[in-house]
Amino acid sequence: MIPIRRNASASARFESAVPQQPTPDSVPDAAPEPVSVPDTSATPTGSQGAVVAEAAYVSRETPTREEDDPPLAMEAMRAVQILNPSGEVTMPRPERTRVMCVANQKGGVGKTTTTVNLAVALALHGNRVLVVDLDPQGNASTGLNVPHHTGVPDVYDCLINSVPLEEVAQGVEGIPNLWCVPATIDLAGAEIELVSVVARESRLSRAIDAYPGHFDYVFIDCPPSLGLLTVNALVAAQEVLIPIQCEYYALEGLNQLINNINLVRQHLNPKLDVSTILLTMYDRRTRLADAVEQDVRNHFGDKVLQAVIPRNVRVSEAPSYGQSVMTYDPGSRGATSYFEAAQEIAERGVKEPVGRNA
Ligand SMILES: Nc1ncnc2c1ncn2[C@@H]1O[C@H](COP(=O)(O)OP(=O)(O)OP(=O)(O)O)[C@@H](O)[C@H]1O
Ligand SMILES: [Mg+2]
Repeated sequence: MIPIRRNASASARFESAVPQQPTPDSVPDAAPEPVSVPDTSATPTGSQGAVVAEAAYVSRETPTREEDDPPLAMEAMRAVQILNPSGEVTMPRPERTRVMCVANQKGGVGKTTTTVNLAVALALHGNRVLVVDLDPQGNASTGLNVPHHTGVPDVYDCLINSVPLEEVAQGVEGIPNLWCVPATIDLAGAEIELVSVVARESRLSRAIDAYPGHFDYVFIDCPPSLGLLTVNALVAAQEVLIPIQCEYYALEGLNQLINNINLVRQHLNPKLDVSTILLTMYDRRTRLADAVEQDVRNHFGDKVLQAVIPRNVRVSEAPSYGQSVMTYDPGSRGATSYFEAAQEIAERGVKEPVGRNA
């Protein structure tokens, strides 16, 4: 299988990218105003969205930028400058790869949004990050603007045909040190096909373990179910990150997820640990959001990140432009909250490493 390369700047080879912390000092003056949103009467998606995003970029005043710099790379540098103007915030690289499974069988709670934005935030601050899109919906691939149409080598090939990750991973355009293993619609059949495959629960684990030390973080974006795909993610990971939406019913079904995690820990992966809970789509105007936050903090204690992700329209707009909110509108509350969450995760990983494969 031939590795897909979308463009020269987006390297698909794991080895070729050197981790670099972009320094805000090195960023030319850029206009810090929020990105103006083009007319979205016909909502753009995928590459069409990227074209529109470029149009939005061109419309901004960026007089000091070098002509031939790729616009998305400039967006990334601008994001770092806005999110971390003094350059004081660092996101220390962990000693070993942290494989984090982003799971919650409840749909629409922010799993994909969290995966994409944390991955981008960490990569922008010098970490080598791989996103594995393990959801047949392919939303993480869309959010990172990685091609995932039929025929593109994807995570299905890793799981069913034992194709090495390196051959299906794509470099994410404009974000150094970030790769994505996309999901195509083929993955929809994997739940059933896996049933008859040898070592069906540990296919992803084997694929990831073939690259020891290549990444600082591997984020696995799970589908909203507890089937074999999610089990593969739980077997491959050391940590589970559970996004919880600050809404009624938020905690319903969590017991089932925790039970499954306990079963996987007992039988398949003793290293597994629920290390991180992230509250998402918090709406300060409602008392309900506050009540949910209190409930979750009482229940999960310091596993819950201090950073809380607000409901923010920029977060929901970003994927239709093939971007994370970190680059789409780095000054928005959505971006700054995900930035804080990424910082906390990075610091926790250094101070109190959890469930490492030591
Ligand atoms: N903080 C936020 N503010 C506003 N909208 C958000 C926020 N986070 C996520 N969304 C929107 O909510 C929807 C669901 O988010 P997302 O796709 O990340 O959830 P998910 O848990 O991955 O869903 P699924 O279970 O279908 O995979 C998306 O339309 C997303 O853009
Ligand atoms: Mg999702």
